Amino acid sequence: MSLPPPSVAARRPAANYWADTRCAKAFWSQSELPVFHKLVADTLDLAAPQAGEAWLDLGCGGGTLSRGLWERTGGTVGRVVGLDYAAANADRYAVLARDLGAGDRVRFEHGDFSGGLARFPDASFDHAVSGLSISYAEHFDEGTGRWTQAAYDALLKDVHRVLKPGGRFVFSVNVPDPSWWAVGLRSLVGAVAHSRRPLKFLKNCLRMNQYGAWLKAEARTGRFHYLPAAETTAKLTAAGFTGVRHAVVYARQAFLFCATKGG
Ligand SMILES: C[S@@+](CC[C@H](N)C(=O)[O-])C[C@H]1O[C@@H](n2cnc3c(N)ncnc32)[C@H](O)[C@@H]1O
Repeated sequence: MSLPPPSVAARRPAANYWADTRCAKAFWSQSELPVFHKLVADTLDLAAPQAGEAWLDLGCGGGTLSRGLWERTGGTVGRVVGLDYAAANADRYAVLARDLGAGDRVRFEHGDFSGGLARFPDASFDHAVSGLSISYAEHFDEGTGRWTQAAYDALLKDVHRVLKPGGRFVFSVNVPDPSWWAVGLRSLVGAVAHSRRPLKFLKNCLRMNQYGAWLKAEARTGRFHYLPAAETTAKLTAAGFTGVRHAVVYARQAFLFCATKGG
């Protein structure tokens, strides 16, 4: 089974499947994996959202974390903005906002965070979250013909810029050379048994596995960034964050970070 051609012309010398509806939909099934539920719960515990706050959800996908921010505050959170590369997630957010009765207090923005967050003014969010997404900030240097970490570094600086003083950035990123099997084996059998549509769920899991192989191959070229925790900590510090801490989560296949913008 091979990956379908991407639905958009690649702007860089390689396809980016994250923009594709098929990829977006496959990853919506992640929310049926128990190990993923635990990651979301751990992220929200650390995020500890409060009434009236404005939150940014980077690489929000179908909105699992955005939903959690809303539900953890009993609908009193100020607003949640989800940003993602896949336009298909807009429909998902429309349904989410309707189901929650959130109106425009939960909304989606279609965009590529590799180009930074210029659309958001300085200090426009109290806090930010991100689930297994920011590693995909990409920059290709035409001069050297190589992928670099420039977009990743710039994104961390921009998250710092859009947070208010005291704001927290709580996010997960995969460990170097993650084992998708470790994630799948932990969860798959039970998740299939509990799925309302087991065949569709299994098909999406197979697709996620294919996209997972692509992600790991690209990470080896330096395009995507599955970095050791110490390297991510150094990048956060260089971006201006303080109080950086992390835990190993997600069947030991991800780090969960919390970093603060000093007051
Ligand atoms: C593994 S999924 C996680 C989705 C969601 N955070 C969750 O926890 O369910 C990674 C997400 O990052 C998004 N993404 C990847 N590259 C991106 C980019 N350059 N700009 C914005 N979003 C991006 C993908 O579209 C996808 O929704």
